[in-house]
Amino acid sequence: NRVVVLLSGSGTTLQAILDQQNQYSYQVVGVLSNRPEAYGLERALHAGVDTQCLDHKLYSSREQFDLELMEHIDRYNPDLIVLAGYMRILSSAFVEHYQGKLINIHPSLLPKHKGLNTYQSALDAGDKEHGTSVHFVTEELDSGSVVMQAALEITPSDTAKTLEQRVKVMEHHLYPKAIDWIVSGRIDIKDDVISLDNKPL
Ligand code: GRF
Repeated sequence: NRVVVLLSGSGTTLQAILDQQNQYSYQVVGVLSNRPEAYGLERALHAGVDTQCLDHKLYSSREQFDLELMEHIDRYNPDLIVLAGYMRILSSAFVEHYQGKLINIHPSLLPKHKGLNTYQSALDAGDKEHGTSVHFVTEELDSGSVVMQAALEITPSDTAKTLEQRVKVMEHHLYPKAIDWIVSGRIDIKDDVISLDNKPL
């Protein structure tokens, strides 16, 4: 099962996905970045995975950039496209093209705390728990159907930094598992309804 990963930054999530591919039924066949300096590209190279970088600043519009990105992705003939710290809003053409084959991990217990700075938002809201969600991507930011979540209890000594560190550890286990369950058909989505082993959730 062929997986393409999109990222913009350090790529610790990619690293976890790469490190666990032996024990799961997916293979990362390509890594694409919109930022040339993304350290995630080095991680991919180090693992012997093909990489492409498309600098979004060189394109006149989001639509133009996404069209080019789609062409590159489609050359890998992927079963699943995985966003791993990809920090760009996607055009509707892109989202439509990969409907049901495009997932993201967002560091909150969705539908809570969409967007950026989720750790501080959770602390400011006085939440008792925080966590992370794997979801299918739709046009609206952080709003597609949720596939899997992991949660932890917020302690009085937590700061945005400690929360981030703790949530990332969970993400690095959750995301590879979610990818495996999707590519192996255990989890499926049809008309926005998620099913597990062919039973609607
Ligand atoms: C992850 O925490 C993920 O939840 C969010 O972006 C972060 C990416 O981190 N979507 P990294 O670049 O993989 O280290």
